[in-house]
Amino acid sequence: MEKQYTSAIVVDKRDLGGGIMELWLMAPDIAAQAVPGQFVALYCTDGSRLLPRPISICDVDGERQKLRFVFRMVGEGTKELAAKRVFESVSVLGPLGNGYPKEVGAYPLLVGGGIGIPPMLFLARELWQQGKKVSIVLGFRDANTFLVEEMAEYAAVYLATDDGSLGTKGTVLDAIKENGLQFDWIGACGPMPMLRGIKRLAQSKNTPAYLSLEERMACGIGACLGCVCKTAKADGHTHVHNTRICTEGPVFDAQEVEIG
Ligand SMILES: Cc1cc2nc3c(=O)[nH]c(=O)nc-3n(C[C@H](O)[C@H](O)[C@H](O)COP(=O)(O)OP(=O)(O)OC[C@H]3O[C@@H](n4cnc5c(N)ncnc54)[C@H](O)[C@@H]3O)c2cc1C
Ligand code: FES
Repeated sequence: MEKQYTSAIVVDKRDLGGGIMELWLMAPDIAAQAVPGQFVALYCTDGSRLLPRPISICDVDGERQKLRFVFRMVGEGTKELAAKRVFESVSVLGPLGNGYPKEVGAYPLLVGGGIGIPPMLFLARELWQQGKKVSIVLGFRDANTFLVEEMAEYAAVYLATDDGSLGTKGTVLDAIKENGLQFDWIGACGPMPMLRGIKRLAQSKNTPAYLSLEERMACGIGACLGCVCKTAKADGHTHVHNTRICTEGPVFDAQEVEIG
């Protein structure tokens, strides 16, 4: 798969509330190749922010011309991206990373927490198109949700909120238990404590699980080793138990990645 460095045009943007922004970029070369779970590196124009910001591909349009991103404004980089206007350009490198595997069970369970929720839309739609019976559990802080109605077009959606304002009060794991969900494959993306819980759940049920680790990154292209994590298997070439999340990931077989 060829990475493309392109100057993409902002074609649409929407404030989803609660500090969450949606951005659509015209980037046909990247959109044509993208698979769920991949991300892009978005470059800022302010020279003081040289490192790109990694953001997951939330979706692509039907003609595979445009990329959709949904992100939380947390610092200067994401605020600059959110301030972009329609017809302005953004430098993008992508698609990056591996994405979720193509072969999944007939009853996949997708789990997203916080800023790990956006890539679940692309994955849910692709699995629904393959005829899978998809369930999704989404974890939010409170009733400021996003993408829920759209996900419901492709899957049975269950919510967990920290404050109990919607769905199950507690974590996504509490929601899985409370709703008695049955599944034969798990795809997850979210904060590390959530991923650890999903890994334990998958082990206890002997179910395959694939976790997307959205840890901090620097170069995003495998050059700086700023994103390494530990793996169960040693690399055949270097004989070390390390792997780069940006290139070998961000999606890993839960059994092979050591996240505690
Ligand atoms: C593969 C990948 C995919 C991602 N996809 C998305 C996405 O679809 N939507 C989205 O909202 N965010 C996503 N992120 C996180 C996003 O890249 C960061 O929030 C962003 O780079 C922050 O840049 P900034 O300049 O605004 O903030 P900074 O000034 O760099 O940081 C501001 C604050 O955000 C925290 N922060 C920075 N990066 C992360 C991170 N990766 N995880 C948690 N906290 C972080 C910092 O600790 C700090 O407190 C993804 C990250 C990775 C590695
Ligand atoms: S971010 Fe530089 S090697 Fe992964």
